[in-house]
Amino acid sequence: MTYAPRQTRYDDMPYRRCGRSGLLLPAISLGLWHNFGHDTAHETKRAICRRAFDHGITHFDLANNYGPPPGSAEEAFAEILRTDFHGLRDQLIISSKAGYRMWDGPYGEMGSRKYLVASCDQSLKRLGLDYVDIFYSHRFDPDTPLEETMMALDQIVRSGRALYVGLSSYNSRRTREAHAILASLGTPCLIHQPSYSILNRWVETEGLKETLAELGIGSIAFTPLAQGILTKKYLNGIPESSRAAQGKSLDPATITPRALASVRQLNALAEARGQTLAQMALAWVLRDGGITTALIGASSPDQVTDCAGAVGNLEFTAEELAKIDSISEEKDINLWAKSSSD
Ligand SMILES: NC(=O)c1ccc[n+]([C@@H]2O[C@H](COP(=O)([O-])OP(=O)(O)OC[C@H]3O[C@@H](n4cnc5c(N)ncnc54)[C@H](OP(=O)(O)O)[C@@H]3O)[C@@H](O)[C@H]2O)c1
Repeated sequence: MTYAPRQTRYDDMPYRRCGRSGLLLPAISLGLWHNFGHDTAHETKRAICRRAFDHGITHFDLANNYGPPPGSAEEAFAEILRTDFHGLRDQLIISSKAGYRMWDGPYGEMGSRKYLVASCDQSLKRLGLDYVDIFYSHRFDPDTPLEETMMALDQIVRSGRALYVGLSSYNSRRTREAHAILASLGTPCLIHQPSYSILNRWVETEGLKETLAELGIGSIAFTPLAQGILTKKYLNGIPESSRAAQGKSLDPATITPRALASVRQLNALAEARGQTLAQMALAWVLRDGGITTALIGASSPDQVTDCAGAVGNLEFTAEELAKIDSISEEKDINLWAKSSSD
């Protein structure tokens, strides 16, 4: 069936300025890390993307290795661009990244110019696009001079392969260094993509949030729902269809009775605010304007609708924030800590 985007899609979603740039991003963005590989029906992928766009979610985040197999999420999104989203390219912000292992041999990962430029070309081919809006260095590479990685990003912009560049999981010190190199090359650093949620607060303790505000870099917080822990999903056990049951990135061992006890209390607080737990978790990430957009994943269109509803209430009282702090213990769930420790 032909897809006609909802006419009122831009009415409810706030669009927030990404750092000191001209680019506005929706408060909620959709990532295609999971549920866009060959293990998911194409109809489900289409339905999730259409629902997102109908809610004013204009930003779709990819990476070279999203799948499985790696590359297949970009191919699936290309199909959606060719069909449902045909004619909508200029209403979309599409990102991709390179940093993790993508192909065999010494040139298939990390931060060399050789890898980043070749990977960007491969992503564009898979996506069927002339350019992506944002291209990221997916992780910090301690063995490649930062100048080389940033020169590769600058080259990617100057050659027309991307409009803007970003960093993912770089710590404050490396972000400052990268920002300075990019500024000297004349390609500003648009955005930083760190993990961040009620249960994973390294961007606060490490000072990254302040660094980004000072440098005028926008931010897109990934895994804001702690891969689903910050929803009602696991309150009565681990559902068969859930990410924790799939043997992928969410270790069921992290869903302990103690963790669930605090999720139950968070859920009660969300209900008292008139929100679902997922909505409150997203509102918390967006609460003080320090984060430009919350980058969710979804396995169904209804999850997207639930998450998009977070923007209905982004305000917290001081008491609510203190309560969230007192009942949520930080968990060892930051799988990306290595990149920000170098
Ligand atoms: N830069 C990086 O290194 C990096 C790393 C990881 C992720 N990312 C980006 O961040 C994006 C989001 O990551 P994520 O998928 O882990 O984020 P997330 O939003 O924390 O978790 C998404 C999962 O939570 C569950 N969920 C979502 N909405 C729900 C709702 N309303 N009710 C109940 N359950 C709900 C679903 O789990 P089920 O599948 O179990 O239903 C969904 O797959 C990725 O797609 C990717 O673009 C970037």
